[in-house]
Amino acid sequence: MKETLETILKNAKSDIQKASTTEDIEEIKNKYLSRKGELNSIKKNLKDLSDDDKRIIGALANDIAQELESALDEKFNTIYRKELEQQLKKEQIDITLPGNFTPKGNVHPLTSTTNEIVSILQTLGFSLVQSENSPEVETEYFNFDMLNFPPDHPARDMQDTFYTKIASNVILRSQTSNAQVREMTVKKPPLRVISPGRVYRSEAVNARKNNLFHQIEGLYVDKDITFADLKGVLNEFIRLYFGSSRVTRFRSSFFPFTEPSAEIDVQCIICGGKGCKTCSNTGWLEILGAGMVDVNVLKNVGIDPEIYTGFAFGMGVERLAMLKYAIDDIRLFFNNDERFLKQF
Ligand code: PHE
Repeated sequence: MKETLETILKNAKSDIQKASTTEDIEEIKNKYLSRKGELNSIKKNLKDLSDDDKRIIGALANDIAQELESALDEKFNTIYRKELEQQLKKEQIDITLPGNFTPKGNVHPLTSTTNEIVSILQTLGFSLVQSENSPEVETEYFNFDMLNFPPDHPARDMQDTFYTKIASNVILRSQTSNAQVREMTVKKPPLRVISPGRVYRSEAVNARKNNLFHQIEGLYVDKDITFADLKGVLNEFIRLYFGSSRVTRFRSSFFPFTEPSAEIDVQCIICGGKGCKTCSNTGWLEILGAGMVDVNVLKNVGIDPEIYTGFAFGMGVERLAMLKYAIDDIRLFFNNDERFLKQF
């Protein structure tokens, strides 16, 4: 029996030496030291021995078990450390590599300008019309007829306005003034509203003109509204948007849907009034059209001009952005050049 034990010890030791993975260690443990292992089966036979032999063989078996356990532990630690090292090496990451770069977008200058204008007008008591009252695809009825444009007005020409194939009277709106009419048609005064949006004109594109641009329409209808209210609101708007230092002028003008009418110009920021290609050598840039709502328009929408009066205005967002940021070509807003857009 003693020899059997020594053989077991020898075999186990050589197994341990050959072991190269932690799984091997587990297997050896099972083979020699588990309940069904080789050492235990020897211990089971001790009962057939004399008391002396029982003690000697029993003690020897325990010593061998201990020796194997500590040899296994030692081997396990070495293998484990080696495996860990290999794994770490395999999974090594290069912490000097740059992380994933997510580019951050900017708000387009036309959007930020629109937001700024809208919020100034909101502080002056105007609120936004619902978008369904300000469609871009419009009928001549709301874009021209209801706004007192005579049937032969040149703005209705194909050279000025984009017509669609939807129907002969369906156009891309040439002004946001359609929103005034729609608003007055469905709501009763007092009305103090604004409507920003795209407008379209069929004209040659150059540094000052694009055939798509943006306007913000304003309308104020109530009892006792006068031209003084118009001047007060627009002067205050200009002061808040440009600061009080920018020179402006009110020029009498004509629109079919306002009477009297005015155009408001701001001194050209590019040339300081001397004249350049941005201002067509006039020194001024027109930013606003405005006037008292024409009696005919009020009648068209069923508002009694004996009780109510009002004023309306429409401003070009591109112009206002160009003046604020000293941009000398309107096309820059539309050709998506990142070098330009990144500056805002
Ligand atoms: N709709 C006019 C334009 O596009 C501007 C305007 C709006 C004028 C409201 C008067 C009142 O030129």
